[in-house]
Amino acid sequence: MSISTCHFTVKKQVFIGYAKLMKPIFNRLQFPTPEVIANNQALADMVEQLQLKGIKRPMIITDNVFSTLPAFQLLLDVFELTDIEYSVFDEVVPDPDFLVIDKGINACKAHNFDAVIAIGGGSSIDAAKVINTCAFNDVKARKVVGMFKIKHKGAYFVAIPTTSGTGSETTIVSVMTDENDHQKKPVVSMKIVPDMAVLDPRLMVGLPPHITAATGMDALTHAMESYLSLYSTPELDKLNLITIRDIFSYLPACYGDQSGSLEHRLKMAEASHNAGVSFTQTSVGWVHGIAHQLGAFYKMPHGLANALVLPHVLKFYVPAATKRMAEMADAIGITQGSDLQKANQLVDRVSALCIELNIEVKPGMIKFMDLKVMSKNIINEAYMSPYPVPRYFESQHALEGFIYTIFK
Ligand SMILES: [Fe+2]
Repeated sequence: MSISTCHFTVKKQVFIGYAKLMKPIFNRLQFPTPEVIANNQALADMVEQLQLKGIKRPMIITDNVFSTLPAFQLLLDVFELTDIEYSVFDEVVPDPDFLVIDKGINACKAHNFDAVIAIGGGSSIDAAKVINTCAFNDVKARKVVGMFKIKHKGAYFVAIPTTSGTGSETTIVSVMTDENDHQKKPVVSMKIVPDMAVLDPRLMVGLPPHITAATGMDALTHAMESYLSLYSTPELDKLNLITIRDIFSYLPACYGDQSGSLEHRLKMAEASHNAGVSFTQTSVGWVHGIAHQLGAFYKMPHGLANALVLPHVLKFYVPAATKRMAEMADAIGITQGSDLQKANQLVDRVSALCIELNIEVKPGMIKFMDLKVMSKNIINEAYMSPYPVPRYFESQHALEGFIYTIFK
């Protein structure tokens, strides 16, 4: 064994011990969850609730593409005939930086806001989490980067996802991009979880199929990594198995549904939300670790990156988590065979789902010369989190080889 391999092995054992040590602490934490309104007229129900709470001057936060779509008008329409004086900040961009956040903070203050309504994908909701807290408590955005730096909640906070994937409307995480060093800067705090999540399937009907596919696979990855996490609990197990079952049932239907079934979209929105509730409490794993680097190096969409990596990581887990994977297989109707056979069939079914959604590895997606740095970053993220996964790589070199075989 070389010195570097030996060093890695020691670090790995420390890391595994740390992850195990954290389990009871993690399981005892009280994670806040938003009040959920989920139905075909959830926007109207939301406004009723806002009026009951006496909210008069909400700031609507979104991106400048969504604000031009007919779906955005659905939101504005529900404020007609009310005395609510909203304002719109629609300058959020994908992977928002601190310049955008600062503009949002100024807009909120200028409007003398008393609530925030974030509508859009993960970037809009993530940005709103930080804008709201910083504007309400008069704190600089850069000061809240890191773990649990936020001391106080912001104004009343409504999150309205328009994709079914990130689960951002219920998580304790927001990710900013630093315009100075172009690195992702996570803000983690119980104080940024929205007070209300509004799941209205009418907002998701017009999504392009490739976004439906990628975001849906992000949600499936959340539920599966959560189920395989050392931090999972019997309660979360139940929720994750239902979520996994529903995603296998309804994601292909949403992807191929030309008529735009509200029922299927609502099921996916709920599945995505529940996966968000779960992974907030259990953390994620290697799929996300690798996907984050694919996003950082190549701007690969998060859901697509997860989808490409998920079957391979599941295959890697089979020897270490056979029973847990057989249980996930049971949830999607694979009931014949030994646990090992079921676990392997689960991997095949995830691969088949990717094919059905036209998700596949294409030549040139990654540059193999980047693998060394990428793997180092992934290992660092896994150690820092820590990722409570069922199996660990034997060395950084092994991880490099693993990623190579996915994209070769
Ligand atoms: Fe994700």
